[in-house]
Order: sequence, then C-alpha cells, then structure tokens
Amino acid sequence: MASHGAPVTIGMLFSQTGVTAVLERSQRQAAMLAVSQINSEGGLLGGELLLLDSDPASNPARSRTEAERLFDAGAEALFGCYMSSTRKAVLPVVEARNSLLFYPTLYEGFEYASCCIYSGAAPNQNAGMLADYLTDTHGDSYFFVGSNYVFPYECNRIMRDLLSNRGARVVDEQYISLDPSDEEIAKVIAMIRNAGPVVVFSTLVGDGAVRFYKAYDRAGFDRAAQPIASLTFGEPEIRALGSAAATGHIKAAPYFSVVDTAANREFVRAYRESFGPDSPISAEAEAAYFQVRLFAEAVRRAGTTDRSSVVRALPTFSLEAPQGTVRVDAVTHHTYLWPRVAVVGEGGTFRIVREAAQPVAPDPYLVELEKRSPILSSDAVHGRS
Ligand code: ACM
Repeated sequence: MASHGAPVTIGMLFSQTGVTAVLERSQRQAAMLAVSQINSEGGLLGGELLLLDSDPASNPARSRTEAERLFDAGAEALFGCYMSSTRKAVLPVVEARNSLLFYPTLYEGFEYASCCIYSGAAPNQNAGMLADYLTDTHGDSYFFVGSNYVFPYECNRIMRDLLSNRGARVVDEQYISLDPSDEEIAKVIAMIRNAGPVVVFSTLVGDGAVRFYKAYDRAGFDRAAQPIASLTFGEPEIRALGSAAATGHIKAAPYFSVVDTAANREFVRAYRESFGPDSPISAEAEAAYFQVRLFAEAVRRAGTTDRSSVVRALPTFSLEAPQGTVRVDAVTHHTYLWPRVAVVGEGGTFRIVREAAQPVAPDPYLVELEKRSPILSSDAVHGRS
C-alpha cells in the first residue's frame, strides 16, 4: 500500500499482440493518457502515479501470469482485459492478492466479484436498446455469428430473449474460431446468403471480426437492408476494415467519439494530440480512460489504495466522463452508463441514432430484463448537435 508521498503503482493488462490487440491498443493508450493527465495535475497522495505495462497477447493463461508478474512488481491495482475469458483467468489472482481489477469492456453480465469494478456495459446498457432499434427499423429475422468463447455464447443467449420478446426470431446461430480460417468465414457467409433477408448480429471480436466484415463486403450484401449489428465492432475495427466496407453497420455502446459533450471534446483532443490525429477511439478505450480517473478520485477520497477503502469511496461520487456523468454502483460494482446506438456513415464515422436521456443503472443479472429507460430518438439526437 502506498504511503503519502510515495508513488502509487498500477498495472495494465492490455494486449499489444494477438487477435484482440486491434482494439486493446486503444484501451492501453487511453489508460496511459489518464495516468499522464493525473501526474500533470499533481499525482496521487502526494506521489507520482506509476504505470507498469504488459502484453497478455490476447491469451487467458498469459493474462493470468502477467497479472501475477505485475503484482510481484508492486502493482496496487490492475486495469485491463478485453475478452471475458481473460477477465475470468485474472480474477482469482486479483482476489488472492486482495486487490482490484478495473475492467473496461462490455461483457455478458451475470457476474459480481468483490475484487472487480466493471466500467464497460452490462447487457441492459447496450443489448436492450439495440434490440429495440433493430426491431423498430430492420424487421424480425436475425442470424447470429460469434467467436468461439464465453462472451458470444452468453451474449447470444440474452439477445435471443430480447429479440423474441419483441416478436423477432433467430434463424441460425453459428460460432467460428477466435482466429478463424478463410473457410470457416466463407461457410458462414454462405449460410447467411441461404437464410434470405436476415440482419446479422455479430459477437465476433478482434481480427476475426475484421476479416468476417471484409468477407461480408466482398460477398456484396446490401448493407442498408442487411447490416451487421454488434456490441463490439467499433472505431479501431472500422479503421482496420476500411470505411467503405463499414458503411451501414450498426453498433450499440455507451460511447462513440462523436458524442457531443465538453468532456468528450477535450478527451478526443488530448487523445489525438498524444496518439495521432487519425487514432481511432473505441468505447472500451473511453472506459479504460475514465476508470483510471475513478480509481484516482477514490484513492484521493480514501487517502489510501487499500482495497476495501477504495471500494467504499468509489460509489460516493460522480465523474464527468466523455460519455456523460458516470458513477459506480455500490451493490453491483458496475457503472451507471449512457446506452447509445449508432450507424456507420460515409467516411467511417458513426452517426448516433438513439441514446439514453439519462445514465442507466447497471443490471448485470437482468433482474428487470425489459425495463425501458427514457431515450432520445434519432431526430432528438440530431437536433441537439
Ligand atoms: C468480451 O469478451 N467481454 C468482449
């Protein structure tokens, strides 16, 4: 535990290599930005905030050994993980060290860990609004395709319920490897073609998603009628895909870089100044950024990095995040967030078509599966900008 004036040390678990590095690089950069801002504002508890780096290589076993290494090197809390398989591998290590993992990624929900703070969306903060939007605008036939690991299976189970509650049906559900072969991708594309006029709901992640979307473009589907909707395919993946092949696809998330708040304008400016004018910013990067700021504020209020003191301090304040005001919920350890749905427009830029009118409480166990929150529709969203 840091004493006053000594550095506070935190560890990062963001993959710089492997299948999900395409996205995790943006999370790593955003966490680095938050740390550098906190240090330029005077640091933490009278000392510097030190950042230990790692490369878990998109691999659960390696994530676990890197977590051990970061704790052995003095990390007082960990920040990171993208795939749920990596979070699940890391949590027992974090619990054994009586520390905290700040997890900045949307996931399947149905989890509470006393050693985890969840700053990405639970299913009620992305999938519910997406199901509403899709059934309002794109009809009632859906084809699910996912990467072969825990998040896609669990997320699809929830999405199937949400769509069927709205009178829609899932015509097929297919899984391909995390790092799929061209043949695996081609087989699913052929199945989609044979399924007729379906909308695709994708829980593919990382490079596999980028390659699937490329093949979908090459196959010539009409993306206005048959877009791919997802909770995962954001700005870094669009950059890797190319904007021409991305137009018309849909994503639900609490953050897009076009969000019109003063905090976001400043965040985008600082991020692009640090990492390049074309550097894509994902929703999960924004969470990686504001969760470091949440930690810093909680440590300031608690006067210590001790886990139980930080956990007690976290729900006592709100933070002006780029997406809007956020706050950690004391009961679930998840965060109040701003659900949004956006469509990729010309030039690869997202256009927000629906958004929550207020922050939505996390409901990771879907206790209130069909609770609807007030929303702004596309006209209202458009009218504000
Ligand atoms: C994920 O695996 N939670 C995207």
